[in-house]
Amino acid sequence: MGFLASLSHKTVVITGASAGLGATLAVECARRGARLGLLARNAERLAAVARECEQLGSEVLIVVGDVAVAADGQRLVEATIERFGCLDYLVANAGLSMWTPFAAVEDVALFRTLMEVNYLGAVHCVHPALPHLQKSKGLLVAISSIQGQVGVPLHTGYSASKHALQGFCDALRMEVAASGVGVMTVLLHWLQGTELRQRALGKDGKALGAASRKHRAEAVRLEEAAQAIVRGMQKRQQRLYVPKRLRLLALVHALWPALAEWVVKGKVAREEG
Ligand SMILES: NC(=O)c1ccc[n+]([C@@H]2O[C@H](COP(=O)([O-])OP(=O)(O)OC[C@H]3O[C@@H](n4cnc5c(N)ncnc54)[C@H](OP(=O)(O)O)[C@@H]3O)[C@@H](O)[C@H]2O)c1
Repeated sequence: MGFLASLSHKTVVITGASAGLGATLAVECARRGARLGLLARNAERLAAVARECEQLGSEVLIVVGDVAVAADGQRLVEATIERFGCLDYLVANAGLSMWTPFAAVEDVALFRTLMEVNYLGAVHCVHPALPHLQKSKGLLVAISSIQGQVGVPLHTGYSASKHALQGFCDALRMEVAASGVGVMTVLLHWLQGTELRQRALGKDGKALGAASRKHRAEAVRLEEAAQAIVRGMQKRQQRLYVPKRLRLLALVHALWPALAEWVVKGKVAREEG
């Protein structure tokens, strides 16, 4: 049982837990005995994920809320402390994407929405959680993307919001290290089987839905990503690349940005084709 027991009696809060990676992570944590605080806007889907976790023996609190609303982040943390008395891991996972050339964007409000969900959405939860993470010497886990380090065409606003999240986490890590709090950012490649692409905002600021592109085979399986993240949490890694080879792109980008951009442009062109 060794590794599987690693989250027993730990309280893990996950935002964006009603679908995709957040839901899969919740189940992975439940398997390892964690107590869970789960937030998303869709109450029904959140309840279904909670039931699955409870069937695995986990105690689960659900909070229906929107990370773009600061008061909802506060409510999530307060409810967690009231129910479980502590908070060991905060996983800021809720996210929203886009898929359109910048020149085609009809209303720049789209950029505000992406910042409010992907960047401020994390800040809204981290701020109330920090004193509790300091008490538990816990870990903030920010679910980012390789786009937090390397820009990707057709994703200007998404890349910018993930860069903001990365900068926030890198600065915070240094501030809070002395109090025993860890900060881990997860830089992901494309994932298979999530709804991020259908929900991604198009040029008119509306979700792409059926018009969205399907992922190619190289995209990472959800379970594989969730297991890598839980392992990273256990090791309190600073930066986790999923898959690991993504680190190479980050390295090339630091040393030879033009080469990295050539690689990225080619990949996006193939996804478009
Ligand atoms: N899929 C990929 O290829 C990929 C690649 C790199 C990084 N990521 C990152 O992984 C994370 C999870 O994405 P995913 O692929 O699992 O996407 P997903 O399938 O679309 O799930 C997104 C989750 O976030 C929740 N959410 C969205 N907006 C929210 C808001 N304003 N307040 C609260 N919850 C909100 C959604 O639930 P409700 O609608 O119920 O609120 C849902 O549970 C994101 O941060 C994303 O940027 C994904």
